[in-house]
Amino acid sequence: MSTQSTYPLEPEASQLQPETPKAPGRQRRHTLPANEFRCLTPEDAASVFEIEREAFISVLGICPLYLEEIKHFLTLCPELSMGWFQEGRLVAFIIGSLWDQERLTQESMTLHRPGGHTAHLRALAVHHTFRGQGKGSILMWRFLHHLGRQPAVRRAVLMCEDALVPFYQTFGFRLVGPCAITLGSLTFKELQRSMWDHASRRRNSGS
Ligand SMILES: CC(C)(COP(=O)(O)OP(=O)(O)OC[C@H]1O[C@@H](n2cnc3c(N)ncnc32)[C@H](O)[C@@H]1OP(=O)(O)O)[C@@H](O)C(=O)NCCC(=O)NCCS
Repeated sequence: MSTQSTYPLEPEASQLQPETPKAPGRQRRHTLPANEFRCLTPEDAASVFEIEREAFISVLGICPLYLEEIKHFLTLCPELSMGWFQEGRLVAFIIGSLWDQERLTQESMTLHRPGGHTAHLRALAVHHTFRGQGKGSILMWRFLHHLGRQPAVRRAVLMCEDALVPFYQTFGFRLVGPCAITLGSLTFKELQRSMWDHASRRRNSGS
């Protein structure tokens, strides 16, 4: 797969505000959209890692995906990612991949299984200056909508620390128990969510 390929979202979801119309007789100005939601590419990896560095490394000493892993997954499965850009700057992101077993295992930390039907949500983070403004929630709902349009995806799964379980439950994720994956001394809960509701809406809307 070309690392140059981009996966724009459907028009109504990709841009919240239209660009200012061009004034007659004036040279076109290339303004960046106020808000843009799109799948990430390997070229976005440095911006993703910059957010991760502050969100995870400065707090936990580790992070879900290091720079080369970000590039790896954004090359293998960019369609399972989403970034929120404000005037061209990345403010929040989600990176996923596919998994093919009922539960997450230590192996799922490094593998993308293209034949799988479960979207493994590996990392979600909002730039620290934009937290607590509802951005994480908006991005998650948009991402779930985007996943629901992918016929291969029947389920979504993630792991998180205890404190974030209620946050993910608001998106329909169900706690399935302790996760088999540990990072150093950190332990996590595993949550799952069926994507059938999104899929049936897709079928009923005929899109
Ligand atoms: C977790 C995160 C993605 C949430 O994004 P956000 O834009 O700050 O969240 P929102 O403003 O949409 O908040 C939604 C709700 O989640 C709650 N919430 C947000 N972050 C939380 C946290 N770290 N612990 C517990 N609850 C949290 C909020 O209190 C809010 O609840 P409310 O509506 O009852 O007030 C963001 O805080 C972040 O990037 N954190 C650092 C990285 C991280 O921990 N990522 C998740 C890894 S599993």
